[in-house]
Amino acid sequence: MNANMSNTKLVVGNWKMNPATGDEAKLLARKTRHAASLLEHISVVVCPPFPFISAAVPGKKSPHFHLGAQSVSIEEGGAHTGEVGAAMLKDLCVEYVIVGHSEMRSLGDSDEMVSKRLKAVLDAGMMAILCVGEKVRDESGSHFDFVREQMKKSLANITKSRSSGVIVAYEPIWAIGAKEAMKPEDVCEMTIFVRKIFSDIFGNDTAQKVRVLYGGSVKFENAADIIKIGQVDGLLVGRESVNVAGFVDLLKAVDEVK
Ligand code: 13P
Repeated sequence: MNANMSNTKLVVGNWKMNPATGDEAKLLARKTRHAASLLEHISVVVCPPFPFISAAVPGKKSPHFHLGAQSVSIEEGGAHTGEVGAAMLKDLCVEYVIVGHSEMRSLGDSDEMVSKRLKAVLDAGMMAILCVGEKVRDESGSHFDFVREQMKKSLANITKSRSSGVIVAYEPIWAIGAKEAMKPEDVCEMTIFVRKIFSDIFGNDTAQKVRVLYGGSVKFENAADIIKIGQVDGLLVGRESVNVAGFVDLLKAVDEVK
């Protein structure tokens, strides 16, 4: 059992810049929603690219299927070409927003920018999925310091009372888009570490409740072990979330984890 004692696992599909058309997005969302509706212990969030969010909006609300977005502007509105605001996402029924993804960080998102995006998400009453993770690992264990700093800086402007709106997704960059995921035993070490940092920042009571996800080359074959041995509350899935057959198998595997 994971630290927040919930038996419902959160599986977030980050579609990234896929699929190519709105029709494909609609179909992908419909099939994912249907698979989620047949499972008991799963809550699925799909995060389509902005133009396809409305194509993924479910006909009726379900506790098993939710909408997410891949980023958000720090601005509320006005002359900000190319930006999409939190209120706009909320208006599209978005409930979760990814912030600090390494692919956004590589385009220039600093920890300060991530903290502003995170605040924009919480201000709008949505849940923020804060991504953290090191680029490389070495013997010195510097990845612990790296993740601690990312978390401290990204959560700098959040009060304890608002920390319940934050989910932490640990995604080591070296495991994203790779052949293999991180070993479940190593995921477990980081899950404990992430909770420890959350506890240092907000207190032990909040650290027990925060949901910690793992992301990086998750697929049907490794999903159950990552949940069970890695002691995470869910998964952040890239490639496999746009491969319907693989994603449905993955969801079933996670649903069966006791
Ligand atoms: P992959 O599952 O394709 O490795 O991507 C992970 C990821 O970046 C999810 O946000």
